[in-house]
Amino acid sequence: MAKDVRLFQPLTIRGLELANRIVVAPMCQYSAVDGVAGDWHLQHYGALVASGPGQVVLEATAVEAAGRITPYDLGLYSDAAEQAMARLIKTIRQFGKARITVQIAHAGRKGSSQRPWDGGGPLSAAEGSWQTISPSPVPFADGWPAPAEIGPYDIDRLRQAFADAASRADRAGADMVEVHSAHGYLLHQFLSPLSNRRDDVYGGSLENRMRFPLAIVRSVRRALPSGKPLGIRVSASDWLDGGFTPEEAVEYLIACKSEGVDYVCVSSGGLAEAKIPTRPGYQVDLAWKIRRETGLLTRAVGLITDPDQAEAVLVNGRADLVALGRAFLDDPRWVWRAAEALGVPPPYPSQYMRVQPKVWPGAKTRPRTLITG
Ligand SMILES: Cc1cc2nc3c(=O)[nH]c(=O)nc-3n(C[C@H](O)[C@H](O)[C@H](O)COP(=O)(O)O)c2cc1C
Repeated sequence: MAKDVRLFQPLTIRGLELANRIVVAPMCQYSAVDGVAGDWHLQHYGALVASGPGQVVLEATAVEAAGRITPYDLGLYSDAAEQAMARLIKTIRQFGKARITVQIAHAGRKGSSQRPWDGGGPLSAAEGSWQTISPSPVPFADGWPAPAEIGPYDIDRLRQAFADAASRADRAGADMVEVHSAHGYLLHQFLSPLSNRRDDVYGGSLENRMRFPLAIVRSVRRALPSGKPLGIRVSASDWLDGGFTPEEAVEYLIACKSEGVDYVCVSSGGLAEAKIPTRPGYQVDLAWKIRRETGLLTRAVGLITDPDQAEAVLVNGRADLVALGRAFLDDPRWVWRAAEALGVPPPYPSQYMRVQPKVWPGAKTRPRTLITG
């Protein structure tokens, strides 16, 4: 029965098998101390792994302290953070088959921010603000401080920081590493002509704007064992006049593929305020274009909430994997709900087998059944 349902079919990436095609999207928890994961992360990711997705992508993990979005982001720039990451991965791995993926990131000009629940604006000096960096001294938005322009020394340092963080993720036991090149963070700041106004070899033509992100991808690939899968997340459109376009994203990803990237997660936006048509599955057509035109294994994401909708994305060839973010925060058991809805045995851990609808009469009357059944 399971073989007819695409969501629950395995997928192999660079020799690594994922049990199914359901992915927990990376979601910042803003709950780390000096980049170090704590107890919140254990319970949060533990519950998500126990629900049986094929891949869990840990939240954006900064490659240097100044690359954090907020002072509470995860990082992989110290031995203490690496040890905590190793403990986190070792712990949550016991609870399910999910392939644990570390998303390495640098916030660039979007760094030095407050947590969303503290307002999400730029930090004041009293709150511990720091100097941000970007390809050009263009602030993220009105009222935000100007980042310092990245110089040749920074470029070498950042390449090394990404490589070191990838090595730390590998040593900490990550199954895969994903480079964050989306949502207006540093790599995306190089790609978009709206944030990259440089007139050296890192700005201007697409070839030049891609130079820094591709150098990062190359150094990360080299830092990882050859058998370890590498992914990338892109914003395939800025949704802004004069911004990064889906056609440019295709060229960038073809180049990433030749640098040894195995899969892409197609997102959009985040560079600056934009009108984004946020309807169900609003980024799926972007994923489809990228999949068709690059041949990369492709993950779709963005307002995918319903099991039939997720299954249709795969059946219609729009993507190879489907990631959900907020739907997993709302219901960490989304995988079970999807299995029930699509007629597949849910992948319960043995400890939870007694909630199976065939042995638990309460399954018929639980509130979730009314919502998703
Ligand atoms: C609380 C929260 C934190 C997020 N943090 C990250 C992140 O660390 N890295 C990232 O690439 N995307 C991040 N995102 C974006 C999600 O991965 C996802 O692309 C987005 O929420 C759209 O998917 P959804 O409609 O299924 O939630 C975050 C989203 C949320 C809601």
